[in-house]
Amino acid sequence: MRDPRDVLHTLFGFPDFRGVQRRVVDRVLAGERTLAVMPTGAGKSLTYQLPATMLDGTCVVISPLIALMHDQLRAAEAVGIRAATLTSVDENRAETIERFRNGDLDLLYVAPERASNSSFRDLLRSAPLALFAIDEAHCVSEWGHDFRPDYRLLRPLMDAFPDVPRLALTATADAHTRADILNQLGISEDGLIVAGFDRPNIRYNIAPRDNVPRQVADFIATQSGPGIVYAQTRKGVEQLAEKLAATGRPVRPYHAGLDPEVRRRNQAAFVASEDMVIVATVAFGMGIDKPDVRFVIHAGLPKSIEGYYQETGRAGRDGDPAVAQLYWGADDFARARQRIGEVEPERQPGERARLNALGALVETAGCRRAILLRHFGEEPPATCGNCDNCLEAPKAIDASVTAQKYLSAVFRTGQSFGATYIEQVLTGQSSERSLMNGHEALSVWGIVAGDEAALIKPVGRALLLRDALRTNPHGGLEFGPGARAILKGEATLDLVVPPKRERRRRGANSGGAPNPVGDPLFEALRDKRRTLAQAAAVPPYVIFHDSVLREMAAARPATLTELARIPGIGARKLADYGDTFLQVIHEAA
Ligand SMILES: Nc1ncnc2c1ncn2[C@@H]1O[C@H](COP(=O)(O)OP(=O)(O)OP(=O)(O)O)[C@@H](O)[C@H]1O
Ligand SMILES: [Mg+2]
Ligand SMILES: [Zn+2]
Repeated sequence: MRDPRDVLHTLFGFPDFRGVQRRVVDRVLAGERTLAVMPTGAGKSLTYQLPATMLDGTCVVISPLIALMHDQLRAAEAVGIRAATLTSVDENRAETIERFRNGDLDLLYVAPERASNSSFRDLLRSAPLALFAIDEAHCVSEWGHDFRPDYRLLRPLMDAFPDVPRLALTATADAHTRADILNQLGISEDGLIVAGFDRPNIRYNIAPRDNVPRQVADFIATQSGPGIVYAQTRKGVEQLAEKLAATGRPVRPYHAGLDPEVRRRNQAAFVASEDMVIVATVAFGMGIDKPDVRFVIHAGLPKSIEGYYQETGRAGRDGDPAVAQLYWGADDFARARQRIGEVEPERQPGERARLNALGALVETAGCRRAILLRHFGEEPPATCGNCDNCLEAPKAIDASVTAQKYLSAVFRTGQSFGATYIEQVLTGQSSERSLMNGHEALSVWGIVAGDEAALIKPVGRALLLRDALRTNPHGGLEFGPGARAILKGEATLDLVVPPKRERRRRGANSGGAPNPVGDPLFEALRDKRRTLAQAAAVPPYVIFHDSVLREMAAARPATLTELARIPGIGARKLADYGDTFLQVIHEAA
């Protein structure tokens, strides 16, 4: 048998396996059953695609979304893998079945619904099988977030072919779901391979929200590549998309309320684009392998750390630098707490823990990545060097006294006024309202002055986040369970003061892609890629990733042999596009 590393070079043009890929591939080639848990974008597809080209017969890939299958098909065919999909929308089914039976396919993508179909089982009996690959395998578990009952029928189907190895793949971390997947798919515990969850090329930045459309507009102005902005509601999506469109950047909205055809078009435009911003609800992104997404922005608090990690994981799948930027507000926490109050009592402690974990992430003065990875059961180093707090340490100050003043003001004004009014009371800003209410005579009137005034807003936020304050349905602040201890001096309130990051020069070390934008050769290569992509009706990255063009522009290869040394150019792409790109380089010389 050939060396898998050679196949990696010639087929994909990649210099090395990433992380646990080699271990997974070796198990598959040895005919064993495996569950590989690897974070999103880590390169799970390769662990079945590569063996599929080495083993006799076809690898049957179970994949939950037809759109996702067609993306995968496109990418597989571009490197020269013999692949097909067998779904209700494919018109070439007879031809595909013929190729499958003749052993002329490396990969056959099917939806789980086929598994329940007895004619499909007969078809499998009539063709040479190399492997069963079950993508998004958490769909088999009711504990996972997208349970698909059809996945339960895969076990009996595969059991009918006991000698065919199985490879289940998922990015879902939690131990409970993992155990369930092993059990549901008939894979023993020693077949479990879990990769580290770190995505080192993603930079995590978290900041309090303060006019979020402006914050997002300022941020995207520093970034040249494509990106995703997650908003919390459909209305939020619409509003933000409109504001951002005014910046001149190509912007499209995406949410469940849009006409399916519009949604499909917006998604396709984004996938094909090199600079578009898509503003979406979290419904967007599952299974989309757009490797050159340079940033993911959350315009509000995500649902959970798991959700946040999955959503931010859509950035930088090509391994180039990418940024995850989150803007949060105290009202996010207040709303989330309110929702928790409405769920069944037995689910409340779990939901509360989920929210507190998010609170710890946004509030920390320490390393964000360390918090995320610890959440997934890892033991990361204390600092990562690639999150906002590691890059520029925030100051932590003891704001307990200001917090006590804040709470007193809330208490003495009767626990019914909002944050703006409380701030006016604390700083002694007279108004008709304060006069009428007689609040100017209170002992808390104007007790905050000078520099301390800058702490009022962040202290209010921190008190809400900690459940020392809650908002009533009219927006008034009232005491929560955490208030007493702070008022009595039994608990302190430390405040993280972020350095003034937004004042920093645009583009200065913003963590974006290192593309030499403006370099004439790089731009010429990009133009050529765009033309080829349009002609082949594929997104540009299917032709070559940015890193490949960058390397071409830097190394200026003159021959096919020199070109082939660039990582990311396999034999097929060299044959298909090598001469064309050499020509561009030659003309630029
Ligand atoms: N060894 C490697 N070297 C360089 N790039 C790689 C390697 N393996 C995979 N990649 C690239 O990583 C990207 C992500 O791969 P893939 O789509 O398989 O991710 P995934 O693990 O399936 O993620 P998801 O959970 O989101 O489906 C692809 O663009 C692929 O070309
Ligand atoms: Mg995948
Ligand atoms: Zn860090």
